[in-house]
Amino acid sequence: MLLSFGSDRLPTLGVNIDHIATLRQARRTVEPDPVAAAVLAELAGADGITVHLREDRRHMQDRDVRLLRQTVRSHLNLEMAATDEMVGIALDLKPDYVTLVPERREEVTTEGGLDIAGQLDRIKSVVNTLQNAEIPVSLFIDAAPDQIEASAQTRAQFIELHTGPYAEAKLAQDQLLELDILAQGTAQALALDLRVNAGHGLTYWNAAPVARIPGMEELNIGHSIISRAVLVGLERAVREMKALIQSGG
Ligand code: PXP
Repeated sequence: MLLSFGSDRLPTLGVNIDHIATLRQARRTVEPDPVAAAVLAELAGADGITVHLREDRRHMQDRDVRLLRQTVRSHLNLEMAATDEMVGIALDLKPDYVTLVPERREEVTTEGGLDIAGQLDRIKSVVNTLQNAEIPVSLFIDAAPDQIEASAQTRAQFIELHTGPYAEAKLAQDQLLELDILAQGTAQALALDLRVNAGHGLTYWNAAPVARIPGMEELNIGHSIISRAVLVGLERAVREMKALIQSGG
């Protein structure tokens, strides 16, 4: 296996940079460039770069994934729907791994895990096509026993457990319950020879307990990191612009 993920103990960090592209697309301009963001994320220690090329291209563009394939030095995780178009792109691009996710045009972000059990033959065939081309596949699923069991049947190398229900739990007891579901799902998956990642909705406040789940390999985190980046970078950006205009350019 070429991918070098987490140690035996704590998971690695995959940084999802879709929001950089979302900001650029809000103006249909050239900045901020997700390719530059990926370089900075890697310099800061990101173990992987994750991007979702959506069918509607609302944030990441084909140009982005092509350039990222050439520039990413860690590993490039391409999130995509299990469509013929996306499979074709992945076969051409050869990302370090693909994460299959559900996709609905009207959603704000990915909602819920992919239903593997309900479309086993289709997912099996996509996994087979990609893995035959030496592109390992991860399946983004809810931590439900039947979905984990079905994922193992597809022979995908990885699953990514959907941490949304844990992240959205308001009460401490509900959060603990969801954490336990994630831990049990991880144990079940490992027993079925699946490798386990997790992500969605993880923040500076809730990521650590998920990172401590035994056997967890990689956490994919986007929104919280990019949100923090905007705030920790704002003072410097304002100072630089003020200095520029007051120096007469
Ligand atoms: N993993 C998957 C499969 C996702 O779809 C997303 C959101 O794009 C993430 C992880 C990252 O979620 P967030 O932006 O909430 O950290």
